[in-house]
Amino acid sequence: MAKAKSIFVCSECGYESAKWLGKCPSCNSWNTFYEEKIQETTSSGKKVNLKDREKPKNLNSIEGKEAIYTKTGYGELDRVLGGGLVKGSLVLIGGEPGIGKSTLILQLANKIAEKEGTVLYVSGEESGEQVKLRADRLNIQNDNIMFLAETDIDNIEAEIMEMKPKLVVIDSIQTMYSNEITSAPGTVSQVREITARVMRCCKQNQITTILIGHVTKDGNIAGPRVLEHMVDTVLYLEGERYFSYRILRSVKNRFGSTNEVGMFEMQNEGMTEVTNPSSILISEDQDQVPGAAIVSSLEGTRPLLVELQALTTPSVYGIPKRTGNGVDFNKIALLIAVLEKRARLSIGNQDVYVNVVSGMKINEPAIDLGIALVIASSFKSVYIPKDTAIIGEVGLTGEIRSVNMIDKRLKEAEKLGIKKCIIPQNNKKLLKNTYKLDIIGVKNINEALRAIGIQ
Ligand code: TYD
Ligand code: MG
Repeated sequence: MAKAKSIFVCSECGYESAKWLGKCPSCNSWNTFYEEKIQETTSSGKKVNLKDREKPKNLNSIEGKEAIYTKTGYGELDRVLGGGLVKGSLVLIGGEPGIGKSTLILQLANKIAEKEGTVLYVSGEESGEQVKLRADRLNIQNDNIMFLAETDIDNIEAEIMEMKPKLVVIDSIQTMYSNEITSAPGTVSQVREITARVMRCCKQNQITTILIGHVTKDGNIAGPRVLEHMVDTVLYLEGERYFSYRILRSVKNRFGSTNEVGMFEMQNEGMTEVTNPSSILISEDQDQVPGAAIVSSLEGTRPLLVELQALTTPSVYGIPKRTGNGVDFNKIALLIAVLEKRARLSIGNQDVYVNVVSGMKINEPAIDLGIALVIASSFKSVYIPKDTAIIGEVGLTGEIRSVNMIDKRLKEAEKLGIKKCIIPQNNKKLLKNTYKLDIIGVKNINEALRAIGIQ
């Protein structure tokens, strides 16, 4: 007889333990363990009928099937997916509440319904009226989109088997539940079970499936990592609350490259593609003012040109203030220290504010030099021309270190009409292509300051 046993599972990362713990040893979060009863008759416990089992085959004798890509009609989305939505694949998309997951997926569902046929949209979060309101707003009137407000996986599975749609959307995986599992919807074992059930049902019938997932407070898809292992493609939709641009990022893709990024803008009529993102990340042309510079940041495989701004003013308080919007505060402090010590600029008594135009967050080391130069530009009231891009990492000794994918960055700069690029000398030495750019290689912070006319 199977014995009911209980284990304790961390709701953040899925770590399992035999007893309750206050702090998870795996992800360090507090008070996240809850009890789960497990029945010890899982598929691994079942006796396999020897006649039914699959025999190993010679790999060469298996006929490889090409993945069938369906273009979604949104270029940005297609690129992130690796060329389109693959028939029969399982896609997981995560993101914070209100970021636009349901909107984007409804727009995608509409395109698939137009091209392929029936789409089943299952929602456990919103009623039919709410989804209809959204569809009206997005101007979607498609007879091929079927809506089902349901949270019980048994019913959903039955419906899928009956309808055999081309695409199934589950919004969201955390609201669905299976009667076989005693824990509440959204817990690790429920999410795991639901995903496995949907996967089995859809893969057998070659039905493409999109799962929408919630994210935890540190930005991962709620539920265990095992969820990401089960699906074919994992996408994240990111963005700032007060910034209408949304970034769709692929972190896993069995049918294409990962780290690909697509840009969208949330507008009144839904998510619209941004095909030339660099142009919106640079502020409108202004008169010549000091304290602004263009840098290159690599988002996935795509370089973006972004504008940085800085303001330095003599501090009226005892301790000068350093504030960063979109860049790390500690990085600003470090670069000010390098400017003080290595370039002898006395910024120590200044309040320093650094801002990334249009609310992007950048963590890349390649913008270090841009931050240092834009601070110096404001401090010395020296204007950096708008057609100059600055690329480089700054070391503690003031040396400029080389950055990755320099060719991609330069190509993007050239495309957007940049005339002059300040890049690390080590990168310049190894350049293979030629560009219609005035490329200045710099070895240290002083050379870089000289290149923009300071010192
Ligand atoms: P939604 O897709 O419901 O987000 P999620 O499913 O990720 O929780 O999007 C919600 C937000 O998007 C909401 O604040 C309203 C806004 N929105 C628009 O700005 N334009 C639109 O056309 C739509 C449908 C929503
Ligand atoms: Mg939603």
